[in-house]
Amino acid sequence: MVDFGTSIVVPSVIELAKRPIPKISLRYERLDQDPPIVPGGESGPSVPVVDIHRLAIGGSASPEIDTLHSACKEWGFFQIINHGVSTTLLEEFRMEVESFFNLPYDEKKLLWQNSENQEGFGQLFVVSEEQKLDWSDMFYITTLPLNLRKPHLFQRLPPKLRETLEAYSTEVKKLAMVILGHLAEALKMDVEEMRELFGDGVQSVRMNYYPPCPVPDKAIGFSAHSDADALTILYQLNEVEGLQIRKDGRWVSVKPLPNAFVVNIGDIMEIVSNGVYKSIEHRVSSNFSKERLSVATFYSSNINSELGPAKSLIGPHNPAVFRRVLLEKYFRDFFARKLERKSYLEHMR
Ligand code: SIN
Ligand code: FE2
Repeated sequence: MVDFGTSIVVPSVIELAKRPIPKISLRYERLDQDPPIVPGGESGPSVPVVDIHRLAIGGSASPEIDTLHSACKEWGFFQIINHGVSTTLLEEFRMEVESFFNLPYDEKKLLWQNSENQEGFGQLFVVSEEQKLDWSDMFYITTLPLNLRKPHLFQRLPPKLRETLEAYSTEVKKLAMVILGHLAEALKMDVEEMRELFGDGVQSVRMNYYPPCPVPDKAIGFSAHSDADALTILYQLNEVEGLQIRKDGRWVSVKPLPNAFVVNIGDIMEIVSNGVYKSIEHRVSSNFSKERLSVATFYSSNINSELGPAKSLIGPHNPAVFRRVLLEKYFRDFFARKLERKSYLEHMR
């Protein structure tokens, strides 16, 4: 193991999985998962599907807005179809992300994450040599606003990936703004207040690669967590199942739909909605025979904004259930608590 001086460097799981291995090292064995990791997850109710085109033409009177509202309240998750992002762009991006993860390890190692902001290649929130690890590799980068970008990291990306990432993040930002507008309608929140909070918001992208695992019931692709941002838009590149969300105490598997994105409410939106929408715990199982690739795009409010329940949602009959804090401080505290493996949302009540 190499020590780069800035963060704890863990093995690349892609490299581990390249050799035929009958079992995994103890660092990846997760027998502490409750309930146990079931690749594919339990069947049962499925995540609601929202048609973005129907929302656009139906406006706030459309039945689709009720589907969206109850999905955000009861599931914290939904899949979207007819979202308008071009399939050609999605296909190009899929190829570039795949090629990136298939680069020789020595090249990806040059992009190793830095412990302060976790941006780069590696695994998030590794703080000790003893800590259990996830069966996946990831690359995490802030894309917007431009002044928060780490130019050295961008410049070191393969040029074609950089170009496609730019196009993808522009398109997905437009989509996020459309969804946020509909969330404001569904919440009966002032649409202008939502626009002001998020118009110049922080966007980051995390690409994930989950190699096949010889013992999928013993390892986890991504440990259970809730997202710290406001809205996450997930592209499942090769439509392999793996994402599981906690619903009424059970883990429900999300079955990828062709040309759909999975969208979820993060902690910031739970706060902005004054607790009406839920930021739900989720995890990723590993798979015996198939690799899985995904890209999560995270949206948060403007870095200079104050985070708290939307002013247009609170009043004498609806008191705020969360404290107010500057977004920058929220993120600083979030990273500190995450490194101590503590939840942040409870701390805001
Ligand atoms: C996540 O970002 O929480 C999960 C991503 C995935 O489904 O791969
Ligand atoms: Fe997540």
